[in-house]
Amino acid sequence: MRVLVVDDDKLNLKVADGFLKNCFTDYYVILCQEPTKVMGILEAENIDILLLDIIMPELSGIDLLRQIRSNDFYRDIQVIMLTSLNDKDSFKACFELGANDYILKPIDITEFQARLHAAEKARNNTRMLREMLDMMKEQNNELKTVNSLLKDTQFHLIQSGKMSAIGELATGVANDINAPIGDVYNQLKELSGYHKIVKDYIDFSTDSLDKIASRVEDEDTLKIIEAVRNKHSKLNMKDVTKNVDSIVEESQKDLTCASEIVQSLLNLSWINPQKNNARCRIDKLIEQVLLVIRNEASKVVEITNLVPELSEVYCNQGEIGQVILNIVINAVQAIKHEEKEGLGHIYFNGYEEENYISIRIYDDGPGIPRENLDKIFKPFFTCKEGQGTGLGLSISYDIIVNKHKGMIYAESELEKGAAFIIKLPKVTN
Ligand SMILES: Nc1ncnc2c1ncn2[C@@H]1O[C@H](COP(=O)(O)OP(=O)(O)O)[C@@H](O)[C@H]1O
Ligand SMILES: [Mg+2]
Repeated sequence: MRVLVVDDDKLNLKVADGFLKNCFTDYYVILCQEPTKVMGILEAENIDILLLDIIMPELSGIDLLRQIRSNDFYRDIQVIMLTSLNDKDSFKACFELGANDYILKPIDITEFQARLHAAEKARNNTRMLREMLDMMKEQNNELKTVNSLLKDTQFHLIQSGKMSAIGELATGVANDINAPIGDVYNQLKELSGYHKIVKDYIDFSTDSLDKIASRVEDEDTLKIIEAVRNKHSKLNMKDVTKNVDSIVEESQKDLTCASEIVQSLLNLSWINPQKNNARCRIDKLIEQVLLVIRNEASKVVEITNLVPELSEVYCNQGEIGQVILNIVINAVQAIKHEEKEGLGHIYFNGYEEENYISIRIYDDGPGIPRENLDKIFKPFFTCKEGQGTGLGLSISYDIIVNKHKGMIYAESELEKGAAFIIKLPKVTN
C-alpha cells in the first residue's frame, strides 16, 4: 500500500509515520506538511490511502477532499480524515464529500490499526472490481465488434444465398418457359399455313360449285348443290375462317409478349449475378422491370411511367432492376395492406441533374412514419410482422450507395404515400 499523510503539524506527521511503520512494515509512506502540494503528489504517486488532517492553514482538509473527489481519476483512493474535530457537522460534511473513514486525534493505536486494515481491504476490493469491470468492458467491446461482424456476414450470406437461389430458380424457369413458347409460336405459324390451305380449298370448292350449278339441269343434282350451299351458310364458314385468322394473330401477339417478359427476366442480372457493370439507360431498364411486374401488380395498383429519356449511367442492370423491383413490391404490399377501395397508384418520374440522374418512385399508399424513414434501410427492419425479411431496402441501399456510389432515401407524409429517390452518377466521358 502507498500511503500519503497530510498534516500541517510536524509532530503529528511523525506520530502517524511511527504508527504506520510499526504496524504495517510493507507500507510505502509519504509525509506532506503543505496541503497545497497534495494534488501534485497524487498526480505523481499512485496513492492508495490518504490520511488527511482537517484544520490546516492555506487549504483545509475538507476543501482538499472536495478537490480530490471532483476528479474521477482519484475516486478509488481511500481517504481517512485524521482530526481532533469531534463535532457532528464536520463528520457529516466529510462523509458527504466522499471520505471513507474518520480517525480522532489523539490517535489510539488499536483503532488506527483496525481502521487502516479496513481501508486496505476496501482498496484491494475496489481495485479488483475495477479490473474486472475493465475486463468486462473490453470483452463487451470485443463482443460488439464480433456481433456487428456476424450481422454483416449474415446479411451478405442471406443476400447472396437468396439472390443466387432466386437467380438459379428464375433462370431455370425462364429457360424452361422460353422453349415451349417458341414451340407454340412455330406450331401456330404452321397451323396458320394449314388454315390458309383449307381456306383456299373451301373458296375453290364454292367457286366450282357455282360453276357446276350454272351448267346442271338435273333436279336431284341441283338439290344436292343447294344442300351444300345451305350447310356452308348454316355453319357460318366465312366467319369461322375469319375468326380462326384473328385468333391465330392474337395468340401470336400474346406469345410475343410472354417471350419478351421472359427475356426481360433473363436480362436482369440477379439471375446472372456475374454480369459486369455496363453503360445503361435507366429509363429503358425501368420499362423492362415494369414489363415483368405490371401484370401481377395490376390487381392492386395502376403504374404510370413518366420517366423521360435519360443520360446513360454505368451500372449493373440486374442489381438496379432489383432495387426498382423491391421498391415497387413494397409499395404494392403497403397499398394492399391498407385495404382501401379501388386501385392505388405508383408513379415513376426521372430528372437530369448536373452529375446524377435521379429517379423518383412514389405511391399514394399509407406512407412511412417519420421516425422510420432512416430505419427502413437497416438490415432486418420490417413492419410486416412474420411476413417481411426486412432485407429488401437494406440490399437496395448496399447496391445503390456502396456498389454504385449513388444515393437512396425516402420521403413520406403519413396517409399521403411514400416516395423513394434514387440518384446514380452519370457517365462522365
Ligand atoms: N412504399 C412504402 N409504403 C409504406 N411503407 C414502406 C414502403 N416501402 C417500404 N416500407 C416500409 O419499409 C420496411 C422495410 O422494407 P424492406 O426492407 O423491403 O423489408 P420488408 O419488405 O421485408 O419489410 C417495410 O416493412 C415497410 O414498413
Ligand atoms: Mg420489401
